[in-house]
Amino acid sequence: MSLIDAARAVRENAHAPYSMFKVGAAVQAGSGAVYVGCNVENVAYPEGTCAEAGAIAAMIAGGDTTIAAVAVIADSPQPVSPCGGCRQKIAEFAQGDVIVTLATMDGTVLETTVATLLPGGFDADYMSRV
Ligand code: THU
Repeated sequence: MSLIDAARAVRENAHAPYSMFKVGAAVQAGSGAVYVGCNVENVAYPEGTCAEAGAIAAMIAGGDTTIAAVAVIADSPQPVSPCGGCRQKIAEFAQGDVIVTLATMDGTVLETTVATLLPGGFDADYMSRV
């Protein structure tokens, strides 16, 4: 199963009764293992979590620590754009040249990279004086 197919499949499990916007994400770890996540909303709206965050949490719980590829899918008019927080979460575990595949449910696909999604991101180098 391709990474985007894994994201499409887990999207069906999203808990999105407030936005009605279901999102699926899949990350392939450096080990080759694939981890998936979907958005999980909450009646206390800020407590909801994004699909990407779920996939990354599953990866860490599974014992992997590097991301080799990412795929995200939603029923959007243009390939879904990860939020700022998720870009930072992905960048924690992925090199800048890692491919991020963004897709719509009707087959439009955009391939980009972690560095393109998060230019000028905060990283550990900024804390080198500590
Ligand atoms: N959402 C994601 O899960 N990932 C994205 O890349 C964009 C937005 C979710 C958060 C919320 O549950 C819903 O989509 C609407 O913002």
